[in-house]
Amino acid sequence: MFEICPEMPADEAEVEALYDLCFAPGRTALSSYRLRDGVPRVADLCLVLRDQTGNLMAAIRFWPARVKGQPVLLLGPIAVHPTAQGEGLGGLLMHDSLGRARRMGFARVLLVGDAPYYSRFGFQRLDGVEMPPPTNPDRVLGLELKPGAWVDLTGPVQRESQGPTEAPDSTGCIAVEHPKEVAHAPDTAARPHSSANQGRRHS
Ligand SMILES: CC(C)(COP(=O)(O)OP(=O)(O)OC[C@H]1O[C@@H](n2cnc3c(N)ncnc32)[C@H](O)[C@@H]1OP(=O)(O)O)[C@@H](O)C(=O)NCCC(=O)NCCS
Repeated sequence: MFEICPEMPADEAEVEALYDLCFAPGRTALSSYRLRDGVPRVADLCLVLRDQTGNLMAAIRFWPARVKGQPVLLLGPIAVHPTAQGEGLGGLLMHDSLGRARRMGFARVLLVGDAPYYSRFGFQRLDGVEMPPPTNPDRVLGLELKPGAWVDLTGPVQRESQGPTEAPDSTGCIAVEHPKEVAHAPDTAARPHSSANQGRRHS
């Protein structure tokens, strides 16, 4: 059993350490970080996935951005602890976070990453959407949460300039089975979970 919760301020150092473990040194020098520096994250979409003993196994973050003045969700980084990669945890976080984004009314998502991985979640190459250089255009991928949301939307991706977002919702946790264990019982894969109201097990 795992728990997926919005990332709280107390999680921040652990999440940063997980990213440091999973990515090459200097990850924050990547051009996509220029869109993130000093911009508050989309708090309710930044999620941590912990195992039964509270170990941080995976994390995902989202930032707001703009293309042609329209709001865009910038997905990433997402990382799964090296000891658990390939077990479906990344897929769990992708599906859960994108479902939350859809329910929150976001129309479109953007990321820079490997199309062979992200295409399974519906991401496709975005022609004409320009991340800060140097970025390989083949790695600029988009997903429509509302039909047609990326149609005719091209140009440079720009930093969001609006004020801070809300604090994360500490009640937004769900319990999930291990993806491999629910392969034959998908209807039990995720359910609302109330442990956030009873205190964080890792704090
Ligand atoms: C990429 C990552 C988030 C995927 O999470 P995961 O839990 O390991 O992946 P899942 O178990 O959900 O999916 C596994 C599948 O994805 C594939 N996959 C994983 N990374 C891939 C990549 N970079 N390109 C293509 N396919 C990839 C695996 O081959 C496997 O394929 P299969 O289902 O056909 O066997 C994770 O491996 C990770 O943290 N990697 C290091 C950090 C990173 O690269 N983050 C993404 C960039 S922001």
